[in-house]
Amino acid sequence: MTPSLKYVMSHAVLLLATASAQFPSSCPAIPASAANSTLGTCPNDFTIIGPSLEPVHESSSPPTGLAIDPKLNLYLTYPRNSGPTPNNVVICTSFTGEKPWPSAEIQNCTSGQNASTCFINVQNVVLDSVNQLWVVDSGIPPGAKSAVEYGAKIMSFSLDGALLRTYIIPSSLYYDNMNSNDVRINNTLGTKGYAFVTDESDAGSILSIDLDTGYANRRLFNTTYTRADPGYVGVYNGQTIYTWNGTRKSFITTGSDGIALASGNVYWGVLGSRRFYYISQAAIVNRSLSDSDVVKYVQDPGQCGTEQAGFTADDKGRVYILASEHNAIFYVDTLQSQVNLTVNGVQPGSTNPLEPVKAENYIVRDYVRNALIQHADSAAIWDGWMYFCTNQLELSPSRQYNNVDARRGPFRSYRVWVGAGPAV
Ligand SMILES: *[C@@H]1O[C@H](CO)[C@@H](O)[C@H](O)[C@H]1NC(C)=O
Ligand SMILES: *[C@@H]1O[C@H](CO)[C@@H](O)[C@H](O)[C@H]1NC(C)=O
Ligand SMILES: *[C@@H]1O[C@H](CO)[C@@H](O)[C@H](O)[C@H]1NC(C)=O
Ligand SMILES: *[C@@H]1O[C@H](CO)[C@@H](O)[C@H](O)[C@H]1NC(C)=O
Ligand SMILES: *[C@@H]1O[C@H](CO)[C@@H](O)[C@H](O)[C@H]1NC(C)=O
Ligand SMILES: *[C@@H]1O[C@H](CO)[C@@H](O)[C@H](O)[C@H]1NC(C)=O
Ligand SMILES: *[C@@H]1O[C@H](CO)[C@@H](O)[C@H](O)[C@H]1NC(C)=O
Ligand SMILES: *[C@@H]1O[C@H](CO)[C@@H](O)[C@H](O)[C@H]1NC(C)=O
Repeated sequence: MTPSLKYVMSHAVLLLATASAQFPSSCPAIPASAANSTLGTCPNDFTIIGPSLEPVHESSSPPTGLAIDPKLNLYLTYPRNSGPTPNNVVICTSFTGEKPWPSAEIQNCTSGQNASTCFINVQNVVLDSVNQLWVVDSGIPPGAKSAVEYGAKIMSFSLDGALLRTYIIPSSLYYDNMNSNDVRINNTLGTKGYAFVTDESDAGSILSIDLDTGYANRRLFNTTYTRADPGYVGVYNGQTIYTWNGTRKSFITTGSDGIALASGNVYWGVLGSRRFYYISQAAIVNRSLSDSDVVKYVQDPGQCGTEQAGFTADDKGRVYILASEHNAIFYVDTLQSQVNLTVNGVQPGSTNPLEPVKAENYIVRDYVRNALIQHADSAAIWDGWMYFCTNQLELSPSRQYNNVDARRGPFRSYRVWVGAGPAV
């Protein structure tokens, strides 16, 4: 052993002894703001960010979709992607109480029933800006790969549960396992508004539906903007997540999933990735553009730093991204008037309330981070509050080694103050 190495080793032992003597056995109450505090004082020092959460409902099984109406009724969806659920869409009657909505009969199609008239596999329920509630049905029965005829659809209802209109996605658009997952409505675009639907199939796409004529258009099919990253591995509660069939490993291939409308654009994320994009609503509904023309309108503001299954937006052009990898909800301001940082030389604020932030100046930031947020999946804003459901998706059998179900309910929905109204 050379003298210098001997010195280094004894020095290391000394450091170890000193360190263990000083390491706190319980966590000292040094405020993080104290000048002498360091980062990582205690093993469980994870920074909690943002306002506190208020629980609004507790579900015994994991919900994916959520809406809130002007009377503060909460609606949840229990999709059938991994098996039958008794009720597909419910209205909450108390903190733990639920009843089928709009009726018990519509929850299950009976054999021979036209699938346009009943729920096959509703993924989300959404309020529009004229107090109509919309459901989006993938039309894909449990265990099947493709939608049944007339099954893939969106349906609008009045607040008292009366069916207003059904828009069937034609089976000519079912190619490559189209899987309609989420929907948002712009009631003022075109003559009677448009619906925008994400297709979370492996290839992915974004559909628009003209609410006047019912014409449905499938765009951005199997583009980099809708398809998962090859070999994507996400993180949940600090642990890596693969997909598993027993002990056989594979990767999440879910495409375009969460969606929001803001500032005249459609915003969406690709679930099996940390990527999000936006496109002008006018461009994606324009039937005279070719598919390759439409692709040119896609804006790429850079990655959002998280896998994400849900988006929502407020009436100040702020888009919220449900950041499942970080027990968090992120946001990005899309209107320059709301920006409060100088970015790339552009000063905060704007005298023009409609001036968009340029894609290269988008900054995705934390709104709230809290261990209670266990895969926030869908969110909706009403009267200053953002409501969201959680479902621990990454702990479900298909994402756990040997297909163990590591989810532990109840599954809570919360609200958090955002001080704004809904975008649509
Ligand atoms: C750190 O500063 C606080 C006051 O901010 C003081 O009470 C505490 O004793 C200091 N701790 C150490 C280890 O110096
Ligand atoms: C729907 O069908 C399932 C059986 O698959 C049943 O358990 C459930 O009660 C039915 N739901 C309603 C609301 O009738
Ligand atoms: C099912 O409903 C759709 C939409 O109303 C209709 O076009 C179709 O003809 C119906 N199919 C059958 C077999 O009744
Ligand atoms: C989607 O594009 C990828 C890459 O070009 C290709 O490998 C794949 O076969 C395409 N999928 C479909 C359904 O067209
Ligand atoms: C899982 O693997 C088994 C055989 O190893 C196969 O029969 C089954 O189809 C696979 N399941 C899925 C969902 O791929
Ligand atoms: C809805 O469409 C109108 C008309 O094009 C547009 O001005 C508005 O910004 C859109 N709404 C949202 C939330 O994007
Ligand atoms: C649709 O796109 C065409 C071709 O770029 C353009 O001429 C037309 O103005 C667009 N229509 C609308 C309503 O924006
Ligand atoms: C900018 O906005 C963020 C989020 O609302 C807030 O935390 C921060 O304090 C604001 N900064 C300034 C300089 O106003």
